[in-house]
Amino acid sequence: MDLGLIISRLMHDFGIAFGVGGATIAFLISKKAEKKPEISQNAAFLMESISKLIWIGLLLLIVSGIGLIAFIKWPVNIPLLIVKHAIVLIILINGIYLGVNSKKMGKAIKEKNVLAINKIKLRLKKVGLLNLICWYIVMVLSVLL
Ligand code: HEM
Repeated sequence: MDLGLIISRLMHDFGIAFGVGGATIAFLISKKAEKKPEISQNAAFLMESISKLIWIGLLLLIVSGIGLIAFIKWPVNIPLLIVKHAIVLIILINGIYLGVNSKKMGKAIKEKNVLAINKIKLRLKKVGLLNLICWYIVMVLSVLL
């Protein structure tokens, strides 16, 4: 197996660990914070680092994914890869949306704006769940490639 393929695979696997692992932990922490509002400030603090990890994972997956396409010698199911890329794009857009709204949440908490906090909390909950589902759909699609 040539070096390019080995490095791309390794980067892809690290990307999966950071991305899927990070999205799962972020979801679990937001669930806990929902049940125990008193931990939501610490949860928001942790989320900053976890979202950085998820972005590093996504970057690793995109770069190594291009590497895999370049180096693998066996046929890949192209229509499935296209569907996979479409869902990766949704994950990217979700990530930007979650990032923007997390910042808005920080501002609303500082201003003690309860109405805004509850509105943003609902948005983060829905998009956070959609994001997690997208990560796992990509995992399943990928082993079928
Ligand atoms: C959310 C992002 C992604 C996740 C979770 C993901 C996950 C995976 C997984 C689990 C595999 C199977 C690994 C294995 O068999 O060892 C895989 C393979 C692959 N991925 Fe990704 N991937 C992602 C993004 C991408 C992107 C953006 C590309 C292309 C630009 C890509 C291209 C590939 C290719 C070409 C393979 C190899 C298929 C094969 O070995 O036949 N992936 N991916």
